[in-house]
Amino acid sequence: MEIVLSGIRSTGHLHLGNYYGALRNYIKMQDKYNCYFFIADLHSLTTHPHPDDFHAGVRTILAEYLASGLDPEKSAIFVQSDVPEITELYVLLNMIAYKGELERTTSFKDKVRQNPENVNAGLLTYPVLMAADILIHRANLVPVGKDQEQHLEVARLLARRFNTLYNAEVFPEPQAFNFGSDLIKVPGLDGSGKMGKSEGNGVYLFDDEKTIRKKVMKAVTDSGPTEPGSPMSESVQNLFTLLKIVSDTATVDHFTKSYNDCSIRYGDLKKQLAEDICKQTLPIKARIEEIYKDEAYLQTVVKRGTEMARESAQATMKEVKKAVGFKSFLKSDDQ
Ligand code: TYM
Repeated sequence: MEIVLSGIRSTGHLHLGNYYGALRNYIKMQDKYNCYFFIADLHSLTTHPHPDDFHAGVRTILAEYLASGLDPEKSAIFVQSDVPEITELYVLLNMIAYKGELERTTSFKDKVRQNPENVNAGLLTYPVLMAADILIHRANLVPVGKDQEQHLEVARLLARRFNTLYNAEVFPEPQAFNFGSDLIKVPGLDGSGKMGKSEGNGVYLFDDEKTIRKKVMKAVTDSGPTEPGSPMSESVQNLFTLLKIVSDTATVDHFTKSYNDCSIRYGDLKKQLAEDICKQTLPIKARIEEIYKDEAYLQTVVKRGTEMARESAQATMKEVKKAVGFKSFLKSDDQ
């Protein structure tokens, strides 16, 4: 059975980008594959969360994973920092990752631009830690949104480089995955770019009905099509992209037709969009609140997931160390 791995940083509530770009695929993949899903708490340290938020952030994502339908009976669900083999592999992979190629990744360049006062080495080697997350389970498929495509290239590059350098087929080359189609980018409501936690343009799984309606009704549009077949502005295209993600085909067809014949009223489009988002997210929100409170359940889930993840990780590290010729100088009892 092919192995699937993916994760999300613990930097706040999950938004529609996380859900439709990544999480919904995790849920669908659980029945067919051998799945590992985790919370990337170490990655979130690259942006220095306050110690009080650090742990709470993990619990939030865990509750939102489970409320969305991740099933601990089907998938190993764990927290990155509970599997120390990941950081062990990260150190070894850092030795074969080069500064120049890491500096060229778009995500690094973006972070440098957004936060010039916090260009830490963890940001530069972010894709190496991500490669370690993936390769430690020798994963074949990685469900992610479009923004992670380049990081997957780095993971493949390191897998190939490791195998070639040590003349050992330890790692498969992992592929980015989206069910049945290309990777997606969920747009924000502010007229341009992607929905993101730091962009302040998101609708969250945790938002209540009133908040969702308010956010959608405030979404940026334009002054409307002036003649049949007018091209769409980016902000209106974004609303249609969201509509295609959350609504049925008849609804999308209806509004496309009314855009094309200039009878569209953006207020109606937004109302429908808000309603269809609510239909999808409000049942999840209700479950989040219950699960978040259930400490015993969360503990059981993570205990089981960590055991499964560590077993797989330890088996990989054995092969990795053998290939590198790396072993402790201290003799263990069985040597
Ligand atoms: P993070 O937390 O930034 O994003 C988590 C997932 O959500 C997807 N995503 C989106 N997809 C479509 N449209 C959007 N607007 C949008 N915003 C976010 C991301 O593509 C991602 O799949 N580096 C990863 C976390 C990670 C990871 C890994 C993932 C760490 N190690 C190993 C896979 C495998 C990230 O960006 O998380």
